[in-house]
Amino acid sequence: MDTTLTQSELNEASKTKTNQFYNDVITGLSSSPKRLSSKYFYDAVGDKLFQDLMNSPEYYPTNCELEIFSKKTAEITDAIITDGNPFDLIELGAGDAMKSTYLLKYLLAQKAEFTYLPIDISDNVISYLTITLPVTLPGLKVTGLNGEYFQMLTRAASISSRRKVVLFLGSNIGNMPVNDAIEFCRELRKHLSPGDMVLIGMDLKKNPKTVLAAYNDKEGITKRFNLNLLERINRELDANFDVSKFEHYPTYDPETGACKSYLISTTDQQVNIGDKETITFAKDEYIYMEISQKFTTQQAGQMAASAGFSQIAEFFDSKKWFTDAIWVAV
Ligand code: AVI
Repeated sequence: MDTTLTQSELNEASKTKTNQFYNDVITGLSSSPKRLSSKYFYDAVGDKLFQDLMNSPEYYPTNCELEIFSKKTAEITDAIITDGNPFDLIELGAGDAMKSTYLLKYLLAQKAEFTYLPIDISDNVISYLTITLPVTLPGLKVTGLNGEYFQMLTRAASISSRRKVVLFLGSNIGNMPVNDAIEFCRELRKHLSPGDMVLIGMDLKKNPKTVLAAYNDKEGITKRFNLNLLERINRELDANFDVSKFEHYPTYDPETGACKSYLISTTDQQVNIGDKETITFAKDEYIYMEISQKFTTQQAGQMAASAGFSQIAEFFDSKKWFTDAIWVAV
């Protein structure tokens, strides 16, 4: 099936995305307390900052999950291949696909019949993956899908009816408040059929200082990552944020496992967004930017059960800081 969009469809999609971004920003900054959605962190600059962050000494989740994918590749592959029939390997929020590349390589070596469908909100990411992966992994079939997860899952289902294995790595699930995360898993289940699988990565509770340091790196990459969203609003929505007047404030609550980031206005100020909206900030007023929830292994199992999945396997890094669990839709 040809999934290529025409130029006018692309222009229309881009306009819709900008309108959605504008509406979400205005709604969030007109709320009390003010908030922005961390899903908008990932433009080209944000993607690059996140890459830098993943290479920083403090940001441990990526290395932990890489360890799982590099050392447990055979076990993970065995668990997802099941009967040997062709399947679709769909990755939600594929990013640079570094972790999944271990799996893709191993699956190709096993001569498994599958297509890899990376889904990402960032068009930069999808163009990059669809161009580079077939070169670095000869023989790999790739269909990139740029957009929101569930819309793209619906599109994936319209392209093929093969069994689905959905990768949701990197503890992206932690970027939703706990109740939304459960709702998200239920919605995910609705897009799947019995026997389909989810391989989900979750960052686990650990020493609170280790967690907080990961979101407060010495080099200040996380700070720039957060401030870049204000700069993105300047670039794309014609706003005039002065980012030097906002401070990055990360917190971690070891009881609930909620790690949250805020930007705090250091002065009374007004910011124009386009020619219609002016947002007023009081000194010390905050914008809630992101949650990065940390889980217990029990919570992971409970989340699976309450969303209509059965957890059939869990893998850990050597420090037990991170888990990748396999859920089967029941
Ligand atoms: C993508 N996500 C799982 C990252 C996290 O750890 O919550 C995003 C991030 N935010 C700050 N540092 C990393």
